[in-house]
Amino acid sequence: MTMIAGYSHFVQLAESLQWDEREIDFSADRAAWPQLTDAETTQLLGLIAGFCIAETSVAGELGAYQAAARDETMEATFRAQARDEARHARFFDLVTAEVVGVPGANPADRQHALRTHVSSELVDLFEHRLPDTARRLATDHEGLTGAVGLYHMVIEGVVLLAGQHAMLDALGSPSVELPGLRKGMELVLRDERWHIGFGSRVVQSAALGGPEADGLLEEGETAAKVWGDLISADAIESAVKQHKRRLKAAGIKFW
Ligand SMILES: [Fe+2]
Ligand SMILES: [Fe+2]
Repeated sequence: MTMIAGYSHFVQLAESLQWDEREIDFSADRAAWPQLTDAETTQLLGLIAGFCIAETSVAGELGAYQAAARDETMEATFRAQARDEARHARFFDLVTAEVVGVPGANPADRQHALRTHVSSELVDLFEHRLPDTARRLATDHEGLTGAVGLYHMVIEGVVLLAGQHAMLDALGSPSVELPGLRKGMELVLRDERWHIGFGSRVVQSAALGGPEADGLLEEGETAAKVWGDLISADAIESAVKQHKRRLKAAGIKFW
């Protein structure tokens, strides 16, 4: 049985990395939040808002991917990933409610209150582009590779990873003491690494090339900019470089 590998090692990995957002202690964060400078507050609020929108969106779109999976192990891996994304969405909502202190009866209310802190391009990517892609995938399973290209390579590999690194950089500043947020970010990043590794494997096995490959590279370059000023130009550049390296490693040939 162990020889039927497929994607099942990702499921085992996911199982071993489970964590519970409710176990994170935010008391020090709550006390420190009002002490942040205006610039620190602006950047952190923007990143948190972006993650709330992004994680809620990605958590909701994996059903179409599961339905289009090429075998059972791939299907189980998308399911394991969906569990992670739902936890990430709960974690960022908890930060919004407990640390930032955004009022609201439910996550959607709190998310709504934060929307003005991110660009319309970011909202568009998560609330239109990705759902549109998932909807097309639901009726055309052949589109799986391209859909994984957008979700795992562009959104997770470029947009979210760049945001997570920027957040960890901001949290590394000596004036910012937010240990609960930092702990959760590290755990989110650990999950995202295997999601990206899984997506790379799916894309690799499809031997993508030519215009589709160029399209993925260009999309990465455009998507990296959705954070606007919240992320430095250097960080965007390095995210794009890493994206290109990852595509090449997945055996993708550019024109
Ligand atoms: Fe996530
Ligand atoms: Fe993810």
